[in-house]
Amino acid sequence: MQKLEQLYEGKAKRVYATDDPELLIVDYKDDATAFNGVKKGSIAGKGIINNQMSNRLMQRLEREGIPTHFVQELSERETLVKRVQIVPLEVIVRNLAAGSFSKRYGVPEGQPFDRPTIEFSYKNDELGDPLINTSHLLAIHLATEEEVETIKRYAFRVNEVLRAFWAQCGVTLVDFKLEFGRLADGTIILADEISPDTCRLWDSATGKKLDKDRFRRDLGGVEDAYTEVMRRLCEHDA
Ligand code: TMP
Repeated sequence: MQKLEQLYEGKAKRVYATDDPELLIVDYKDDATAFNGVKKGSIAGKGIINNQMSNRLMQRLEREGIPTHFVQELSERETLVKRVQIVPLEVIVRNLAAGSFSKRYGVPEGQPFDRPTIEFSYKNDELGDPLINTSHLLAIHLATEEEVETIKRYAFRVNEVLRAFWAQCGVTLVDFKLEFGRLADGTIILADEISPDTCRLWDSATGKKLDKDRFRRDLGGVEDAYTEVMRRLCEHDA
């Protein structure tokens, strides 16, 4: 499959057309940003890890009945995916308090929840991805009621599958962000990526952060953390 014109360049990936109108090629970069692009940097080898990790996790999710955009890994950094129209929502599932949740509600990071939580942000860089509730996202037609129900159901199911898998790897899945898209016929599928950029992953034994918070918070050892979680995933993803 040949890369044709570049359709889009995001903060961490480039997207290209192919000769099949229903398929795109995603190319993962090492660029890292945080705080809506205010903090900029690079994490050596990140694009390779995120591409390969996301693909393995999406294939696992497919086996568990969750439809995803994954089609075929083409190279270290490139993957063939189904073309979707992205639903402009960041779907965040949390098992433990951390990050913006801890800040907003004054809850210590690491406090577990009785049951997972879900929230949406409106994916809009100009507005800084504001938190949005279901009533508001329906009001501005970001998705239909039926789509929101499907997205919630898939998101909690993704959490069950990934949380159990990461636990086998000695990693606590604290929280993560998903994006969904619509195929041409309107079917909702999981899109974007699942990686240390989009998940909080803590070593189950020590609590050590093995994700992009090391970059966001200047904790050092960013590359090593990405390499370590990828190594553990490969060990357990036979
Ligand atoms: P938050 O606690 O900062 O709201 O982040 C929740 C989760 O979402 C965390 O795993 C990191 C991920 N995330 C993204 O993937 N992209 C983003 O732009 C932000 C703010 C968070």
